[in-house]
Amino acid sequence: MRLSGRVATITGSGRGMGEVMARAFAREGASVVISDINLEAAQSVAEDIVRQGGKACAVRIDVTKSEDADLLADAAVKQFGKLDIHVNNAGISTTKLFLDTPREDLERILQVNLVGAFLCAQAAVRRMLPNKYGRVINIASLSGQRGGVGRAAYGTSKAALELLTKVMSVELASSGITVNNIAPGAIATKMAAEQHDKATRDAYHYLIPQRRYGTPEEVADAAVFLASEEARHVCGHTLNVDGGYQTAGLMFTLGSSEAPPPPAV
Ligand SMILES: NC(=O)c1ccc[n+]([C@@H]2O[C@H](COP(=O)([O-])OP(=O)(O)OC[C@H]3O[C@@H](n4cnc5c(N)ncnc54)[C@H](O)[C@@H]3O)[C@@H](O)[C@H]2O)c1
Repeated sequence: MRLSGRVATITGSGRGMGEVMARAFAREGASVVISDINLEAAQSVAEDIVRQGGKACAVRIDVTKSEDADLLADAAVKQFGKLDIHVNNAGISTTKLFLDTPREDLERILQVNLVGAFLCAQAAVRRMLPNKYGRVINIASLSGQRGGVGRAAYGTSKAALELLTKVMSVELASSGITVNNIAPGAIATKMAAEQHDKATRDAYHYLIPQRRYGTPEEVADAAVFLASEEARHVCGHTLNVDGGYQTAGLMFTLGSSEAPPPPAV
């Protein structure tokens, strides 16, 4: 019960990694506000957590709206008395070449992934300051660290989120609030299933030393750590959960004349 007595808000927790994180936080003793643009999905996750003995409620928010960012932070205070942990998880993506990316796609992705995270974090931190305690976790991406084909808009939004995290962590360090990133590599969620065709999956398998996609549970484990007491001295850090993708250089069998191993299935 590493989050016992804590109150958390997680954006985009109606499905995918956000949902799995919310369930993990609840199992560790936190009260969780499930928030999503899809209210039905958020309600269903919250109801299930409560059925299993956890504490949760659901709200509909669009992270791009300032009033919804306030609504989410206020929901935590109204329902559970305070706000300790906020996770900026809601995100959208497309895979389009730089020259084929319309302005509308770029603007929408920046609005949700960057402006939305900015607004929700501002609202959350304003409620944390009086308690001199807080944890903000931003879900960035390996696409914000490497120049992958098709990631011009999405990767740019996540790279900016990493920089925002550094500035926030420095400005808030003396207020008892830590701010960190998790950068997932390729994670097997519905978003990945919708966006990644066979060529994309093969390319990932080839580049990831562990030769597999990560699971939402593996990202949730990292989030529990960053949200816990154990991470109290971790500030402005990006924790990659990527099977070694960012670290890898040449991968081959030394002395072998054979080509590198084929992608795992
Ligand atoms: N799946 C991956 O491989 C991967 C890798 C790296 C980073 N990420 C990031 O992890 C996060 C979660 O990804 P996922 O794969 O679970 O995605 P997902 O699409 O399964 O879930 C995202 C959730 O966010 C919600 N959402 C979308 N726009 C919203 C808005 N404007 N306001 C509120 N909620 C909104 C959606 O309704 C959905 O429930 C995203 O930020 C994504 O960019 C994913």
